[in-house]
Amino acid sequence: MNAITQVKPLDVPSAIAQRRSIKSFKPDPITPELLKQLVELTVAAPSSFNLQDWQIILVQDETQKAALSAASWNQQQIVQAPVTFVFAADAAGWKKDLNPIYNQALQNGTWTESTVNFFRTAIPQFHAALQDKNREYAIKDAMIAATHLVLAAESLGLSSCFLNGWEEEKVKAVIGATEDPDLAIAVLVPIGYAGEPRGNPGRLPFADKVFVDRVANPYQG
Ligand SMILES: Cc1cc2nc3c(=O)[nH]c(=O)nc-3n(C[C@H](O)[C@H](O)[C@H](O)COP(=O)(O)O)c2cc1C
Repeated sequence: MNAITQVKPLDVPSAIAQRRSIKSFKPDPITPELLKQLVELTVAAPSSFNLQDWQIILVQDETQKAALSAASWNQQQIVQAPVTFVFAADAAGWKKDLNPIYNQALQNGTWTESTVNFFRTAIPQFHAALQDKNREYAIKDAMIAATHLVLAAESLGLSSCFLNGWEEEKVKAVIGATEDPDLAIAVLVPIGYAGEPRGNPGRLPFADKVFVDRVANPYQG
């Protein structure tokens, strides 16, 4: 029996409620089948214009893990967890050949020729106008994919931790991306079996953070 069949997946509300940022992991490996399922659920995330403008690097090799940890202020989750997903965001993804994306949606009957023709004009126009914000837009897509990963992992009995604590150029050197100025690092996510219980640090009241119609009108719940 592999890890997929051992775990009855948690429903989405339960996975969201149960998830915690785990700071230490057991060395237990993740089966290739489970890893593949995580990758499938990660890339099922939506992206603007379905650009899928991310590159996701699965760091598993022990030497690579040590180097990635060193690029991340020596955060030990990366060394302990069997895999760390590095989410790189391609700020120039919109300039690439988008025919594979168009052709797939045409073939499966989801997009029409007129949708594709609209995108052929709209995507370059929209993104050219974004200028420096193209990086930000690619990072949005990568973060949504990372969130899919984290919730999928929780649902399937694994744990995670989003990591912002790293130096971009050092991470790019580890993953072999120093030559690509358009590739930004969005977030790192070690995935593995939790080596600790962890409490919920809590959230502020709705009224501090959620508003109705205008920011002057707190949501009371
Ligand atoms: C974008 C992002 C970056 C984070 N970076 C780090 C990090 O570098 N190291 C770390 O130990 N925790 C990191 N965290 C975890 C947060 O500290 C944690 O999410 C927060 O304290 C709330 O705890 P919870 O995730 O268990 O609800 C990060 C979380 C997010 C969302």
